[in-house]
Amino acid sequence: MKTLLQQMTEAAAAAFSACGLEPALGKVNLSNRPDLCEYQCNGAMAAAKQLHRNPFEIAEEVAKRLSSNPLFAKAEAVRPGFINLTLAPEAISDYLNARRDDVLLGAEAVGAGRTIILDYGGANVAKPLHVGHLRSAIIGESLKRICRFLGFHAIGDVHLGDWGLQMGLIIEELKERKPELPYFDPSHVGEYPAEAPFTIGDLEEIYPTASARSKEDEAFAAKAHEATFRLQNGDPGYTALFRHIVNVSVADLKKNYGNLNVTFDLWKGESDAQAYIPAMMEDFRKKGILRQSEGAMVIDVAEESDTKEVPPCLVQKSDGAYLYATTDLATIVQREKDYHPDEYFYVTDKRQAMHFLQVFRAARKAGLVREDTIMTHLGFGTMNGKDGKPFKTRSGGVMRLEYLLEDVTNAVYERMADSDMPEEEKRSASKIVGLAALKYGDLSNQATKDYVFDMDRFTSFEGNTGPYILYTIVRIASILKRFAAQEGINEDALPKEILPAGDAGEKALQRLLTGAGEVITAAYAEKAPHKLCLFIYDVANAFNSFYHEHRILTEEDQERKASWIALLAETKRVLNVMIDLLGFEAPERM
Ligand code: ARG
Repeated sequence: MKTLLQQMTEAAAAAFSACGLEPALGKVNLSNRPDLCEYQCNGAMAAAKQLHRNPFEIAEEVAKRLSSNPLFAKAEAVRPGFINLTLAPEAISDYLNARRDDVLLGAEAVGAGRTIILDYGGANVAKPLHVGHLRSAIIGESLKRICRFLGFHAIGDVHLGDWGLQMGLIIEELKERKPELPYFDPSHVGEYPAEAPFTIGDLEEIYPTASARSKEDEAFAAKAHEATFRLQNGDPGYTALFRHIVNVSVADLKKNYGNLNVTFDLWKGESDAQAYIPAMMEDFRKKGILRQSEGAMVIDVAEESDTKEVPPCLVQKSDGAYLYATTDLATIVQREKDYHPDEYFYVTDKRQAMHFLQVFRAARKAGLVREDTIMTHLGFGTMNGKDGKPFKTRSGGVMRLEYLLEDVTNAVYERMADSDMPEEEKRSASKIVGLAALKYGDLSNQATKDYVFDMDRFTSFEGNTGPYILYTIVRIASILKRFAAQEGINEDALPKEILPAGDAGEKALQRLLTGAGEVITAAYAEKAPHKLCLFIYDVANAFNSFYHEHRILTEEDQERKASWIALLAETKRVLNVMIDLLGFEAPERM
C-alpha cells in the first residue's frame, strides 16, 4: 500500500509534469519547519536553477494545481520558491481507515525474498555476560525484529567467543584442581562422562582465578597456552571438556538473554568456523591474495581512496596461529555455504570498526561473497556512568548484566510503591517496565554515540523514557476497556472508523500515525532503531495532549466518540508494534 507521503509525491510529480516540468522535481518531504507547514516540496527551486527562471513563479504555478487536489487543505508558494503543503483532514482519516488491516502499517516489504544474517550478542563462553555485551544484544535484537517485520528471512547468530585462550586457562586450572578427572588421563578409552564436572557458578570462579594467575605465574600461563594448542588440535579429553564448558555456559547465557527478551536462531561460535580455515587459506593462496610479511600471512586491503590508513588484514601469525579476522572470514565461508545471505550485519563496540573494514574488504577480494552482498558493521558507543567513564559497579568492578537488570527493576518497583496493585502484580509489572526502561534508555540514543546510564532518568514515568511510553499504552488500554464495558461489547468489537479530525490536536495525532511505515523502513535502511523511539515519543506526546483536551468517555456526540475510540485503538496498535520492534512489551497495568 502506498504511504501518504508517496501519494503526495505522486500528486506533486503530476503537477510539475502538467506545468511542463520534470515529474521527479515533485518530491514531498516532512516539513523541517513544522511551525509553518506540515510538508514541503522544494522542486521549484531546483527547476528554477535548471531553467534560469524565477523560482517563486514556478512554485506558484505548481501550488495552484495542487490546491485543487483533495489530498491538500492548502498548497502555498512561499518565497523564494518553496511549496508548503497542508494535508486535508479527510485525506488523513481515509488513509488510516484504508491502512487498518495492513500489518505492515503502510511499510513496503523491502526484505521479501532476502536473507540477512545478524551477528550480535557476541558473548564469550565462560565469562559472565557484562554490560559491555548489553548494547550489542539490545540493538541487534531490535534490528532483527525490524528486518523480520519488513519481510526478511532474518537469522540472528550469537557468534560466541569460544575459541580463545580462556578455554586453555580453564582447562589448565581444572587440571591442577582435579587431576584425577578422566579428561586428563591420556590412556582413557571410550566415552567421557555426560555430566559436566562443574557448574556455571564454578566456571565463573575458575576463569577469573586462572586469568589472574596467568598474569603472575609464567609457568602456568605457558601451560594454559599449551592446553589451548592441544584443544585446538583435537585432543579428545580436552575436546570433551570444551563441550562441557560451552554447554554449561550456553545454558546460562540463554537464561540471561531470555531475561532481556533477546533470542538467537543460531548459537554458533568461533569454534564452528575453524574447520573451514585450511581450505579457505588454500583458496586464498591459489587466488594469489596472500602476502608474506615478516613470516606472517596478510591480505592487502588498502584502497587508493582511503583517507586513513587501512593496515593489511592479518590472517596467520608467524607461529602458524590463526586470528580473529581469520575466524570471521571462515565464518563467512560457513554462512555462505549454509545460508547464502544477501546481507550481513554485525553489531559490536565501535572499537572493532577497523577489524570489520578489513574483514569485509578481504572477503570481497577473495570472492567469498557476491559483489552485491551488503556487509554492514554497526559500531556502537560506550555506556557510561554518570562520571562519564564506562559504567562500573559501585565498587568499581565490571557490572554483571543480571545485577543491572535487577537494579533497574527495583528502581521501577520503588516508583510504583504507592500504587494499589497487588504485590505480585507490582513485582511482575516492574520487571516488564524495568526492561523497557533499560532498553529504551539505550535505543533512544543514536547507536554510534556514547551515552550515560542514568537510573533516575531512565526509570522516570515522564519524559522521553520507556516507562512513559508504556504508561501511555496502559492509559489507552484502560480507556478502551472502560468504553467496552460502558457499551457492553467485547474489546475486539470496538468501533473502527476514524472520522476526519475535528481540531488541530486530533489532526496532529492522526497525521503522526500515518508515518509509521516510513519510520520503520528508515530504521532498517539507516540501521537506526532510535528513529522508532523518536517517533513513538512524538506519538505518545500527541496522544497525551489529545487526551487532556477531550473527555472521551463522556462525549455526547456518539459518532465522534466512536471515532475517537477507533483513533485510540489505532494509536495503541502502532505503539505496540513499535515497542515490539524495540524488543519490549507493555504490562496490563502499571
Ligand atoms: N566475542 C566478541 C567480543 O566479545 C564479539 C564478536 C562479534 N562478532 C564477530 N563476528 N566478530 O568482542
